[in-house]
Amino acid sequence: MGWNSWNFFEGEINAQTLKEMGDAMVANGMRGAGYRYLIIDDYWVGGRDCHNKLYPDPQRFPDGIKPVADYLHLIGLKIGIYSDAATLTCGGVCGSYGFEELDAATFAEWGIDYLKYDYCNAPEDRETAVERYRTMGNALQHSGRDIVYSICEWGRRQPWLWAREVGGHLWRTTYDSRDAWSTQNLDSTISGGIIDIFDQQDTLAKYAGQGGWNDPDMLMTGLYGKGKSSSLNGLFTGCNYVEYVTQFAMWCMLSAPLIVNSDLRHLDNPILKLLTNPHLIAIDQDPLGQQCTTLSNDGTIQVLQKELSAERLAICVINRSNRPAEYNIPLSQILPKVKKKPVFSVWTEMEFECSSLKGMLDSHGCELYILQK
Ligand code: GLA
Repeated sequence: MGWNSWNFFEGEINAQTLKEMGDAMVANGMRGAGYRYLIIDDYWVGGRDCHNKLYPDPQRFPDGIKPVADYLHLIGLKIGIYSDAATLTCGGVCGSYGFEELDAATFAEWGIDYLKYDYCNAPEDRETAVERYRTMGNALQHSGRDIVYSICEWGRRQPWLWAREVGGHLWRTTYDSRDAWSTQNLDSTISGGIIDIFDQQDTLAKYAGQGGWNDPDMLMTGLYGKGKSSSLNGLFTGCNYVEYVTQFAMWCMLSAPLIVNSDLRHLDNPILKLLTNPHLIAIDQDPLGQQCTTLSNDGTIQVLQKELSAERLAICVINRSNRPAEYNIPLSQILPKVKKKPVFSVWTEMEFECSSLKGMLDSHGCELYILQK
């Protein structure tokens, strides 16, 4: 759980902003809710010095990365950084290819806790990708520091089949998310909105679990069109609150990494309450580590179920359509032979006995329940 600089700041991320983001995460209760990582994405690199050691952009990180890491550690947070398995990153600054051992040692020396390793400007084939990711995975292991290894080749080469083996702890399953419900009716080169990305996770449930997670990209939650890449420079004006709630709920059902992108210094109250909702976070972080599966989907109402520890089930009902819709799901459809049961509603925080889950959902809205199996 954490925050990443990419969609909101792109190349404008700097030391001061990172510290402010850390302070905000502590002050607004996100740290208390479990968020820890502040991840610097692309464009932090200034170059390599005469010993080939990476150094950050001197304007934006005048004292280097280590003081930022020290500061974040001091306030109980962790720091992540970004590189690429080629000589240039997606943004065109130095990547780590050929310098993996040195870069991993440098990251360890700075106190880095997380590396997002991208795959722009690298050969297409899977064999090379596996080899390049393994080289960095080994280098991180030799670095003497525990560094979470986030593999970002966008699901192109089925990383769920090999990422764990090369030391990966999470792997992107798709291209970058856009700040829209769906981009399906647009140019096919534009990657997906939140429901498009969600739909691509359906077959991947069995690969997620403790120690290795499917990563359906970062949370658009709260961006409201203010992101750069996520809005494709103004093409998308953002989702509405209901859609952000549903993205957050879906990502929790997926046991996905919860990486916020919005400016933490200016989160409005409803978004902050959502991001720190203890029931949702408990669903995401449940120790069983299961990813949800689809129980039913008639094109309008989709029902997801996720097994939780202590013999419980989380049920999420989503209205996929563009208009409000009713649902009525007999409990026997979820738990055969069960007629009536106490059910906990996550939104109202109330428990009630019922024989079916029913209600009305806004367009793209969702409802969440927890029940004993
Ligand atoms: C790729 C990644 C993004 C981001 C950018 C940075 O597109 O998928 O998440 O890291 O590169 O350039």
